[in-house]
Amino acid sequence: MAEAIDIGLAPEGVQSLALKRANRHGLIAGATGTGKTVTLQVLAEAFAREGVNVFAADIKGDLSGCAAAGDPPPAWASARATEINMPLTPEAAPAVFWDVYGELGHPVRTTVTEMGPVLMGRVLEATDAQEGALTIAFRLADDWLNEGKNEGLLLDLNDLRALLTYLSDNAEDIGKKYGLVTPQSIAALQRKVLQLEMDGADRFFGEPAFKLDELLRTRPDGKGTINVLASERLVQSPRLYSAFLLWLMSELWEELPEVGDQDKPKLVFFFDEAHLLFRDAPKELINKVEQVVRLIRSKGVGIYFVTQSPADIPEIVLSQLGNRFQHALRAYTPTDQKAVRAAAQSFRANANVDVAKEIQELGVGEALVSTLDAKGAPTPVARTKVRPPNSQVGPILPAERAALMKANTAGRVYEKAIDRESAHEILGKRAAQLSEAEEREEERAAREKEAARSSRSRSTGSAAPRTRSTRSSGSRTTPLERQGGRVASGVFNTIVRELMRGILGTPSRRRR
Ligand SMILES: Nc1ncnc2c1ncn2[C@@H]1O[C@H](COP(=O)(O)OP(=O)(O)OP(=O)(O)O)[C@@H](O)[C@H]1O
Ligand SMILES: [Mg+2]
Repeated sequence: MAEAIDIGLAPEGVQSLALKRANRHGLIAGATGTGKTVTLQVLAEAFAREGVNVFAADIKGDLSGCAAAGDPPPAWASARATEINMPLTPEAAPAVFWDVYGELGHPVRTTVTEMGPVLMGRVLEATDAQEGALTIAFRLADDWLNEGKNEGLLLDLNDLRALLTYLSDNAEDIGKKYGLVTPQSIAALQRKVLQLEMDGADRFFGEPAFKLDELLRTRPDGKGTINVLASERLVQSPRLYSAFLLWLMSELWEELPEVGDQDKPKLVFFFDEAHLLFRDAPKELINKVEQVVRLIRSKGVGIYFVTQSPADIPEIVLSQLGNRFQHALRAYTPTDQKAVRAAAQSFRANANVDVAKEIQELGVGEALVSTLDAKGAPTPVARTKVRPPNSQVGPILPAERAALMKANTAGRVYEKAIDRESAHEILGKRAAQLSEAEEREEERAAREKEAARSSRSRSTGSAAPRTRSTRSSGSRTTPLERQGGRVASGVFNTIVRELMRGILGTPSRRRR
């Protein structure tokens, strides 16, 4: 096994990434069209060659090319290979395609329970009060599950909706134990769930849920697999996209054993369009992401953020990213200039490189590179001509993709969604029974009334005065309405703290 993977050539010599330090995370940044995806592909295929599994979001579809040999290579790739004297041997990397919508890859799903209230709140763009209501809903469901009751199983969006309905129908009782929620919050959440469904996200929530083992599988030939998440459509729902990747990250952190620093990572995770993750993110979420990023490296997972400007990534997260590949940045506006200065300051100085100036002058496929050496110290920044990948640059043909999907038997178990009995069915049945009982009760009352009236008219011979029905359904208010807009935010905070859930609110232990 190689100790490092070669990235390209700088005046100082060949620049490489030490596999031993690849779990110290990384950043690929640069303006559009400067060569970020190609750099990502070079890294991904080299990791796979060295037996490291990769997970990468494919935002434009062009990363899918890693699964094809691309023979003959384009002229620019051959020219670059010759220029830097790094041979280009056309070769496809082992790749598996995944797709939330189940079209461009094997379906990937997770359950609402697994997602947890924090990420679910983020997907739904919930306000504080709505997130509080969600937290209560999850708490109730968790308690049911702990009691062995399947009505606590939130598999898909139908289940979440059923639970929210239950919450508003039983607000008084639930309020006493878990804290109060307003009908407005529930109604708003229901609308948002509906919207999410209309965006096609219902396909993402359900079973069979994606198993992390898929990302950790080893191949008989000892190579790693590049797991490509087709994200062209997913990224149109930025909250779902970022929540999904966060969920995956937190699951990895939760599930993988502590291994410390090893010869090479177990998995490298590329988070493209990383600005979407942090845009409008509350400070609390940023802190949690920082925590996951910091802790996950000792589990053998390297996280590489890909974005236009390093300024897209909060400072506390940025400081965790040891391996840097900075493509050209343009500095037209004062904000751009600030970003350039910030990017420059984050590199270990090299007397021969004026970083702030050169960042703006870099050609396409050129990057300022600084990685962590075998001792863990950053190498001096070097202006590097990045090598071309051995696999195809640009999207794979649909027929090639389909053939690869067909050949991957492991993906088959995900093709068909399963809908087992969960909150939606059980709570639905219960509500139906309840309303049937109510109807029967109403009928009985009506019959009694009728009987009373006829016996009275028989005895008095005149019409009976109007009596009130036993159930004053006309003036019925829900317990929630009676609570009249009281939002128990203090209770929410306590509950958030109390929750036996992991770092991002995902369950900290398997329940099924
Ligand atoms: N290492 C390289 N050597 C030579 N040319 C390169 C290299 N990397 C990229 N290029 C050229 O730049 C083009 C764009 O590269 P790439 O798609 O990686 O850019 P990008 O930064 O990902 O763009 P976007 O932000 O639009 O996704 C490539 O198709 C290729 O022509
Ligand atoms: Mg790109």
